[in-house]
Amino acid sequence: MSAASTVIAEPATVAAEQTTAPLMFGRFRTWLFLVGVVTILTGLLFGYDQGVISGALSFIAADFNLSTTLQEVVTSWVTLGALVGALLAGGLADQLGRQRTMVVAGILFAIGALGETLAPGTVVLVIARFVLGFGVGVASVAGPLYAAEMAPKRTRGRFVSSYQLAITIGILLADIVDAVFSSSGAWRVMLGLSIVPGVLLVLVAAIMPDTPRWLMKVGRRADAKASLAKTLGGPNIDGQLDKIAQELAATTEASWGEVFAPAVRRALWVGVGLAVFQQVTGINAVIYYSDKIFALAGFSTPHQQTLATILSVGVVNVLATLIALAWIDSFGRKPLLYAGLIGMTVALVTIALAFATLDRRQPADGVPSVTGIVTLIAMVVYIASFAFSLGPVVWTLISEIYPMRVRGKAMAVATACNWGAAFVVSATFLSIMNLIGEPLTFLIFAVLCVITFWWVRAKVPETKGKSLEEIQEAWTEHDAGVAAGQVPALPVEI
Ligand code: BGC
Repeated sequence: MSAASTVIAEPATVAAEQTTAPLMFGRFRTWLFLVGVVTILTGLLFGYDQGVISGALSFIAADFNLSTTLQEVVTSWVTLGALVGALLAGGLADQLGRQRTMVVAGILFAIGALGETLAPGTVVLVIARFVLGFGVGVASVAGPLYAAEMAPKRTRGRFVSSYQLAITIGILLADIVDAVFSSSGAWRVMLGLSIVPGVLLVLVAAIMPDTPRWLMKVGRRADAKASLAKTLGGPNIDGQLDKIAQELAATTEASWGEVFAPAVRRALWVGVGLAVFQQVTGINAVIYYSDKIFALAGFSTPHQQTLATILSVGVVNVLATLIALAWIDSFGRKPLLYAGLIGMTVALVTIALAFATLDRRQPADGVPSVTGIVTLIAMVVYIASFAFSLGPVVWTLISEIYPMRVRGKAMAVATACNWGAAFVVSATFLSIMNLIGEPLTFLIFAVLCVITFWWVRAKVPETKGKSLEEIQEAWTEHDAGVAAGQVPALPVEI
């Protein structure tokens, strides 16, 4: 992401906001509505591919005769592709523009999905999953960036939230597709259906204008004017463009060296820490391998396993995300994180104990075992606790805590670390479980939740109700105080 100038500013919208009438959902202009559609599609792609593998894996393993390690490779290479895609997305978004980058993401995604569907063997399947992951990674940076630069300030939160919600809806859709095809074992259809959102993204993104900010940056004022007129309008479009030009002139792009410089380093680590802890506490082990976990816990048929997954992972994830979106601003970020981490810890310890002590045998045909029922309940608690806390709060904090000049690059680092951690967890989960058993594996996740709790208390600032500028000032003041020995380095209360 060499020339990444993905500084997510308060772009055109700051100016636009002062001049446009209040925007309500019902009065959204068609183009602005389409910006929402593009954002939602990028979230759906992300979510669908997070979720679909859980139901498809056992059939792929049987067809291709996969060892545990190869099952992990097939599962995790999407995240590896996404890691690379996320790192390159900023540079692509600067070179090609935000809109064309999303078209590219959609094409990569559709090609990857097609490759998966037609894969004659494991090698093609793994390559296809990498390509598809690459598309997901590019979309995971370009989608929110496009939305942030297109949406009016007053509704930007709604756009970012709709992205979060779309991820969970994508996972739920994948779970439903898995359930529908579980009796026939048609894993090629399960994976192949993701061509649909990929093609839709290409079609919708292709007719969209690029963001006024990017167009101004590359000197295409007339196009920037047309884009602004389509999406925001307002009486003084030229004034708004002048404002963007001023902002661009005032915002010098930080170099990579500055991103790692002492002034930003602490904020950088907070974002990276949040991104990594979000993954090492086990969410994608559960999402990717939920059917396997339910199989081990005593749900014997694939149909039972996918049904348990739909209910405990898919539906609960969407509902609890809705709760978070409603309360994130009134409760504050840290209380939500504390509550979620406590719930996750209790659930993980319960799963560990259930595997260690309870009966896994099915009492009668079609009836799940005691371990199965306890695991199902604990999974509901775990997913709900994640979905109202670490899920949305981590992404919100990551988009808030960085000074504007470094925001694009620092967010790319945090996003790549998130995919990297997801890769490590998904690439090792089954092997670790084989090696040390289910109880210890889930206990390790529980211990990591406790460590995350302690770390959040000590290191993460509360950003509720603060403007991005206030957060930036608070970092600076706090760091100056620490340097002068006037305030303790820990805990951070900003
Ligand atoms: C995480 C994903 C996860 C999803 C589950 C997101 O916030 O980044 O890795 O699969 O939540 O809803």
